[in-house]
Amino acid sequence: MSALQFDDRVVIVTGAGNGLGRSHALAFAARGARVVVNDLGASTTGEGSDLRAADQVVAEIVAAGGEAVASHDSVTDGGHIVDCAMDNFGRIDVVVNNAGILRDRAFHNMTAEDWDLVYNVHVRGAFSVSHAAWPHLRAQEYGRLIFTASAAGLYGNFGQANYSMAKLGLHGLAQTLAIEGASRNIVANTIAPVAGSRMTETIMPPQIVAQLKPEFVTPLVLKLCHESHREGGRLFEVGAGWAGQVRWARSKGHGFPVDPPLTPEDIAAQWQHITDFTDADHPASAQEALVSMLANLQNRG
Ligand code: NAI
Repeated sequence: MSALQFDDRVVIVTGAGNGLGRSHALAFAARGARVVVNDLGASTTGEGSDLRAADQVVAEIVAAGGEAVASHDSVTDGGHIVDCAMDNFGRIDVVVNNAGILRDRAFHNMTAEDWDLVYNVHVRGAFSVSHAAWPHLRAQEYGRLIFTASAAGLYGNFGQANYSMAKLGLHGLAQTLAIEGASRNIVANTIAPVAGSRMTETIMPPQIVAQLKPEFVTPLVLKLCHESHREGGRLFEVGAGWAGQVRWARSKGHGFPVDPPLTPEDIAAQWQHITDFTDADHPASAQEALVSMLANLQNRG
């Protein structure tokens, strides 16, 4: 297998001053990419700003012989981050949407501010950066995007209603960008990582945090962002030296005759079939999901 190089590619990694983003930025640079190291330098709850977060990672990349520039803008100002790439490197090939914060609280204690802030950084931020990059990717007929979800978004997690909403929303965004970008060789995918970082060090024991290196996540990101990778709209869980794809599973379900009015009791009577995942389908598009449903319109009982 030939080495996956990124020579002449320009990569934006958001939230690259710490944790996963830092690891991604260092790895892209080590493989020849010119990297925009974006980080506002916020706390894990999204407060404050500190230029040093991005500057330190740029210094590390330069010290290792790589090329990088710092962007201290919030991801909600995506235009500035993309301008930084264009002004310094003249192009943009890869966007890794990684910046994130937490405002964990049980739903009954969650404020509208907790909700909005998490939405703004994760969803609005990923939209803002990707949307500003999009015309460049379309014009050059090349682009790779990563969206960073979380198991909390895929499965739910106590105290993370806002974060779960944002994280699954990002996968919805990635799936549609994969469809809209396909004809121009723009590939978008989602990862749900697990890594020891300042974000997880308060909820995991120290030895687990130390073992769950961000460097276990980064290689999948690079693989998905390489020009040789053409499949988009996929979702991967990754961490601890493990990687696997996640997809939707839909039960075979039950088709009712369409003539008599359908009642809640009919649904209750077939509950076992509706929820039986034996030989489940795995629809890969909205069209595919719809076709089998529409077929039931011929069901006269
Ligand atoms: P981290 O806290 O170490 O790094 C996040 C970085 O994002 C920080 O450097 C922070 O300054 C930056 N940031 C925050 N708001 C920003 C904004 N508005 N604009 C620009 N930068 C901003 O966290 P970690 O663990 O590296 O997380 C990275 C991503 O991975 C996040 O999206 C997180 O939600 C996600 N994730 C992490 C998991 C883990 O196990 N560490 C699990 C699931 C998802």
